[in-house]
Amino acid sequence: MRLRKLRQMMAQLNYQALLLTEPLNIRYLSGFSGSSASLLITAQQQFLITDYRYTEQAQAECAGFDIICRDRSAQSLGQCIASLLQPTAVSRLHLEYGHLSVELFMQLQHDLAITLSPATNLPEQLRACKDPHELKCLRQAAIIADEALAWLLPQLQIGMTERQAADLLQQKIYALGADELAFPTILLSGERSALPHGKPGQRCFEPGDWILLDFGARVEGYRSDMTRTVVLGQASAEQQQFYHTVLTAQQAALAAVKPGVSGHRLDQIAQAVLTASPYAAYVGEGLGHGVGLALHEYPLMRRGCDVRLQPGMVITIEPGLYKPGFGGVRIEDDIVITQDGYELLTQSPRQLQQLPA
Ligand code: GLY
Ligand code: MN
Ligand code: MN
Repeated sequence: MRLRKLRQMMAQLNYQALLLTEPLNIRYLSGFSGSSASLLITAQQQFLITDYRYTEQAQAECAGFDIICRDRSAQSLGQCIASLLQPTAVSRLHLEYGHLSVELFMQLQHDLAITLSPATNLPEQLRACKDPHELKCLRQAAIIADEALAWLLPQLQIGMTERQAADLLQQKIYALGADELAFPTILLSGERSALPHGKPGQRCFEPGDWILLDFGARVEGYRSDMTRTVVLGQASAEQQQFYHTVLTAQQAALAAVKPGVSGHRLDQIAQAVLTASPYAAYVGEGLGHGVGLALHEYPLMRRGCDVRLQPGMVITIEPGLYKPGFGGVRIEDDIVITQDGYELLTQSPRQLQQLPA
């Protein structure tokens, strides 16, 4: 099915052959979950080229593909492709220029007598709309994130370090059945929460601290990506107003989500709320991104992204304000686009939580 759709796109663009080197695209199309392979796709044939380390795995995972076990010391990838294409009339090979080292490109140029051309991001376009099994994995990844957070929050205490809290959260994500973390947890406190993608450190929590937690789980390779920002103790009036501004921006963007709307438009709606507030100088860039096998994938919710949302796309909505010396607030949820709007995958409460200190 996925391969058939890819071939339809290739035919529309007059591609005779496509070489895929991006591991997640390879996984999406073939099922291969190892780390070293390439896919060669023509109108009639599909080869997964790997080596002895992964041959057995590929045979088990990639039904319908011809598995080529290349002896890497005897044959370059280009020579292997040349031998596979030699019986065909293929005269041009399209490549993923964004996922190819200069070294490999030079080798392919040397070894192949056919024309090499850049391919558009066809697998990424296909990956944007999730099928029912992908949605099931994404739902489960979101449930794990929700449960891990609900378990962690009551344990946060004055004196605990960011690193300790992040470690607890990560252990719980695994204990709940994740195969991996979605990404290394971002857990920042106090004024450090203003670092949009900072690393948890040795800072100890203090009364009245912001605590920003951005984390997720992976289930069969599919990721959740959620952020909550809480206050340890009583929030000041300024913290409440700051938080409420971000929440209002998120709600405004969510209210506009439906098929046909672009990421550009949603970003504009959230930015309008943030820039009309007293915190216009502290607005984060962009509103969100597609999420799936990759943490950041198509479509993007930011200025200039005119891809229209379609049912089955899964995206994040994550407005933020980041004020150096004061702190940052981000509220991030994962949603799936439905026929008439969206469904929330992440369900953790969004109102400002003030934890007992
Ligand atoms: N956790 C990275 C992001 O929210 O995009
Ligand atoms: Mn995130
Ligand atoms: Mn995100």
